[in-house]
Amino acid sequence: MAYFEWADDMVIDGGLIDQDHKQLVDLVNELHSATTDGRGVEVIEKIMTELIGYTHEHLEREEQLMASLHFPNLARHKIGHMHFAKQLNDLQKKYNEGSLTVASQLSTVLRDWLSLHIRRSDKEIKVFLQKTSPKTPRRI
Ligand SMILES: [Fe+2]
Ligand SMILES: [Fe+2]
Repeated sequence: MAYFEWADDMVIDGGLIDQDHKQLVDLVNELHSATTDGRGVEVIEKIMTELIGYTHEHLEREEQLMASLHFPNLARHKIGHMHFAKQLNDLQKKYNEGSLTVASQLSTVLRDWLSLHIRRSDKEIKVFLQKTSPKTPRRI
């Protein structure tokens, strides 16, 4: 069983958002394996950098998508993202200052936050899409 399991109740749009979330789940698992296997600092640092970078990219991409859909709770959602981005920056700062436990903390923090945030907050996009999308297939 993976450290962070993807589950069906995490599905949001069957598209870009899910792809991003799955990629994040994979990266969290990669970081967790690297830290528990005691792999080299360079390997761990590379995964951490990728994971933090991808998380920031995802938050921005999701906000842009929400804006293009005229999602009504965007402002509140953005605040949640902002708080989490700050948490990530604080961890990055601790790591830069030499804290060795940051890598394993990062996989836990990301797993716990993503797991809840996707199921509670991102899920609101799914509900919104279900309400606003036409029942019949759109003609292009
Ligand atoms: Fe989100
Ligand atoms: Fe998300």
